Amino acid sequence: MAIVIKTEEDIQKMRVAGRLAAEVLEIIAPFVKPGVNTAELDRICHEHIVNVQQAIPACLNYHGFPKSVCISVNDVICHGIPSEEKILKEGDIVNIDVTVIKEGFHGDTSKMFIVGKPTIQGERLCRITQESLYLAIKMVKPGIRLRELGKAIQKFVEGHDYSVVREYCGHGIGEGFHEEPQVLHYDADDSGVVLQKGMAFTIEPMVNTGDYRIRTMKDGWTVKTKDRGWSAQYEHTLVVTDNGCEIMTLRKEEEPFISAVLVNA
Ligand code: CO
Repeated sequence: MAIVIKTEEDIQKMRVAGRLAAEVLEIIAPFVKPGVNTAELDRICHEHIVNVQQAIPACLNYHGFPKSVCISVNDVICHGIPSEEKILKEGDIVNIDVTVIKEGFHGDTSKMFIVGKPTIQGERLCRITQESLYLAIKMVKPGIRLRELGKAIQKFVEGHDYSVVREYCGHGIGEGFHEEPQVLHYDADDSGVVLQKGMAFTIEPMVNTGDYRIRTMKDGWTVKTKDRGWSAQYEHTLVVTDNGCEIMTLRKEEEPFISAVLVNA
């Protein structure tokens, strides 16, 4: 399947979908506190997407996923199923991954929340993971090999004695939730993909404190680290511009420091 180059009209729709996905992460922030269960957080996200945004939560019923967002805590790498039994406690690190569909286009983004008072380890893992996303975003421009992004993320992450998950990757996005190309977060064959203006994709590194290997739980969704170390992830949806990229899912809290990242955009 070929990589779809987005038109100006497509990009405008992706801007809208991306903003809505980012907004969900903004409105949920005050609710991520000790004592809340992750089903309650999912319910708040779902109602905001459906009732306020009049949009569609893309994860709900996606290949049978039972909830509207993924919520992954501590050693859960990704695809955590929100549950009333999963009650957040002080120091937990929590990824909320939101994808909304608006006017047929997808916006996909995730970030880490630290519950209550952060632990030094939890804060460091989240910070390094976010920095690895930003350094890759900064590299995005027409003419660069896709492979360079994964190579840079891996070098940075391993330089901080963490590891990069191999099994899950970023992806092209638009009218499809998961389009070509695959965006790997480590150095591997990219079939020679070179970035060009109008390509839209996510970058979403998953970073583990220990070994990169994973195990999938019996529920068929929840993915945990094999060695039970903690894992963090940040994700943005972006579109390649003339000389850099535009982040479709940028949050207001990121604006002060993202201008330095996107110096060429
Ligand atoms: Co994604």
